[in-house]
Amino acid sequence: MRTEQGPLIRRDAYQPLAFGVETVDLDFILDPQATLVTNRMRCVRNPDAAAGPIVLFGEGLVLVSVTLDGAAPTAGQVRETGSGLEIDVDADEVLVEVVTRINPSANLTLSGLYQSRGGYFTQCEAEGFRSITYFPDRPDVMARYTVRLEADAATCPVLLSNGNLLETGALPNGRHFARWEDPFLKPSYLFALVAADLKALERKVDTMSGREVLLQVWVEERDLDRTAHAMDSLVHSLRWDEDVFGLELDLDRFMIVAVSDFNMGAMENKGLNIFNTKYVLANPDTGTDLDFENVESVVAHEYFHNWTGNRVTCRDWFQLTLKEGLTVFRDQQFTADMMARASDSPAAAESARAVTRIANVRGLRSGQFPEDAGPMAHPIRPDAYQEINNFYTATVYQKGAEVIRMIHTLLGREGFRNGMDLYFSYHDGQAVTCDDFVGCMAEANGADLDLFMRWYSQAGTPHLKAEGVYDAASRTYALTLTQHTAPTAGQADKLPLHIPVAIGLIGPDGADLPLQLEGEVRDGNTTRVLQLRSESQTWRFTGIDAEPVPSVLRGFSAPVILDIVEDDARLAFRMAHDSDPFNRWDASQRYMERVVLGLAAAHAAGKPMEVPQAFGLAFRALLVNETLDPAFLAETLALPSETYLLERMQPADPAPLRAALIHLMREIGHAMQADFLSRYLDLEVEGEYRYHPADAGKRALRGLCLRYLSAWGGPTAIDLALKQFEHATDMTERYGALAALVQSDAPQRFDALAAFHERYKDDALVLDKWFQLQAGAWRWSDAAPATLDQVRALMDNPAFSLSNPNKVYALLGGYFRANAAEFHRPDGAGYAFWAEQVIALNKTNPQVASRMARSLEGWRKFTPAIQAGIRAAFERVSAEEGLSPDVAEIVGKALA
Ligand code: ARG
Ligand code: ZN
Repeated sequence: MRTEQGPLIRRDAYQPLAFGVETVDLDFILDPQATLVTNRMRCVRNPDAAAGPIVLFGEGLVLVSVTLDGAAPTAGQVRETGSGLEIDVDADEVLVEVVTRINPSANLTLSGLYQSRGGYFTQCEAEGFRSITYFPDRPDVMARYTVRLEADAATCPVLLSNGNLLETGALPNGRHFARWEDPFLKPSYLFALVAADLKALERKVDTMSGREVLLQVWVEERDLDRTAHAMDSLVHSLRWDEDVFGLELDLDRFMIVAVSDFNMGAMENKGLNIFNTKYVLANPDTGTDLDFENVESVVAHEYFHNWTGNRVTCRDWFQLTLKEGLTVFRDQQFTADMMARASDSPAAAESARAVTRIANVRGLRSGQFPEDAGPMAHPIRPDAYQEINNFYTATVYQKGAEVIRMIHTLLGREGFRNGMDLYFSYHDGQAVTCDDFVGCMAEANGADLDLFMRWYSQAGTPHLKAEGVYDAASRTYALTLTQHTAPTAGQADKLPLHIPVAIGLIGPDGADLPLQLEGEVRDGNTTRVLQLRSESQTWRFTGIDAEPVPSVLRGFSAPVILDIVEDDARLAFRMAHDSDPFNRWDASQRYMERVVLGLAAAHAAGKPMEVPQAFGLAFRALLVNETLDPAFLAETLALPSETYLLERMQPADPAPLRAALIHLMREIGHAMQADFLSRYLDLEVEGEYRYHPADAGKRALRGLCLRYLSAWGGPTAIDLALKQFEHATDMTERYGALAALVQSDAPQRFDALAAFHERYKDDALVLDKWFQLQAGAWRWSDAAPATLDQVRALMDNPAFSLSNPNKVYALLGGYFRANAAEFHRPDGAGYAFWAEQVIALNKTNPQVASRMARSLEGWRKFTPAIQAGIRAAFERVSAEEGLSPDVAEIVGKALA
């Protein structure tokens, strides 16, 4: 094997640098092929660090000159090290001026300074700054920045950088310049510049202390009519952080810039957030309800980073979850509050919060659980990495947010707020660690979180077993909770964790019982949080008159896999009665999982697939329940994701699973056609489109009805979908109808796809939907074309480009990640195609290549025949010359 893995970077090897930087003055003479960067740094000896040279990192730079305090260095004083420069100095302070040349037009990695549609943009997190200039490019080096940029005035009329604008002016030869100053200390990963032909939507608002601030959303002129929602979202975020955490915007100006070529979702550069267009642009004709929701939450996420990430940042990249887990938790809470606020009753608000929570947990189960069970398993604070870009993971982000949520659950809302206040009072302006954060939470509350810290160092999803024993004689119910975490890659031994488990007991009439633990007085509460701190513990509830049904892990109070023995009748009971909406949803998911996996097993054994009648009854009882919130019902009647089901199937086998899913959708659609139809008709939303949770909920349930109906495929169903497609006045309805048609066997789906393409052929973001739908299409009959052939053909579409990440994620990602049965074809052609694309992407954009490579990392869960095919594909990639560290790490770990 020839995969060369990069050197391992270890968390315990952290050392502060001998020299930090106090001020940086950057000058950019922007040019597509030869941009000249002059960097004047005041480097200052760090009294707390061991003696050593000034260490500057640099990658792919042409060094033009270096001076020290204005003079040429002496022979040997400045050395090239392979990863940058080292400079010996005796003084405690020196002005280092480095001039470098870079080529933004040749930079296809979309990290550092690059071009997109004629403009210049930067992405510096995690280590992109070192491909702009030589610098101690680590988050623990915080400095004050001033920036001057000059560019061609006609092609780049807008010149932006962090902070406040000091000056602009014209220059000879059609050029112009701008000077910016950021008053706050920041690490280099938060540096940004933009030089492009953009227009801004602007709004002025007053902050909580009465300061007027200017908010701007910068986009290409043709997209201005899609910016209102991002601006509204920004204002809502600003208010929410003031109200909930007392955190105020600290700059006079806050800018969001949209760019079409971007590796990730968005980036929180100080005062100059740069966004993937996908998370800024939305109007009713081009964005679905989900797009509107995503824009709102990503705008909030990046805005919230201004405090959790920027004012207090990470000491080193192992601490990434310090800012990401916390900020994801904050954006999840924000979304839940926004949903609840739009509700018209307390019950509706609770349901709306649950819908947000359900979406979070769906994401965690299908995105993070597989990661935690595969070769990339790592604690939310990893111990080692080869390529930091591979650690912007579901574990660091989503599981990290779950860990913060558990702290919130343990300390309560107020206790958490007190911990946050203490965190900012101690650490504002610093680069700190996860221990510092949890330490503040503990100190502010007099709480002991020592055992809890294991969540930061232990990988793997814990299994939580719940067993109850009812004793009629003593009217007690004993609930025993037991935890176990299986070994993960590189971490064989696991210790018990501190797990908050919210539980309730449901009486035979479906009502919650008051909870009274032995030796306690009854306080009337029907949900309480048990704290499991050892491998196993038993709690005894008293005064229980009949055997209760336990409802365990309410609200998903911990990121664990709950193992509890429940027969079908009990699941149906909880689907009908659990007062915790999250657990009510979860009961339905568990029942569906059991049914689907049962059908798949029957199919694999050559037996007929029969949907249990009791399941149909439980499903229908919810479908016709008009008192439940439509958004909640849409979640509760939707099947678990295929990715999650594969994780639950042992061994994973996509073909019978797909057969089972198709069969189940068809059978339900057929058997309940009248109910689906009547709900569909009743749920029509009157009036003009507005993004509002109540309307979105109705549209979601309506869309679900349409999908079951078109899965059945009767002529009335297809007619309904075609009519909706033709007459839709917003993207949610139009795309919903198209998706229903494409996820069916209806021959009309091809014309619908063509019509959609014709209408939106010049619209990059809408075309992404069109690509993704086709990549994810199921084959409902043998007559349907093979998805792989479709995907290959679509790569030749003029709108497709391997250098645009959104296109790659939509088409290739859609196929590799969201179409298991088609990707895992028995002939292995899917894997050969995967290897081909990973190798091609590796040459231009390692981060995107690595993300695509990761779509097969969970390969050992599959059947032996499937594993053999995937191994061959990994070996092929591994044998490739010149693998990037990004891809090499993934392939190396997958094959290890
Ligand atoms: N900090 C950004 C966010 O959470 C993500 C940046 C990811 N960058 C990267 N190179 N992986 O919104
Ligand atoms: Zn983030």
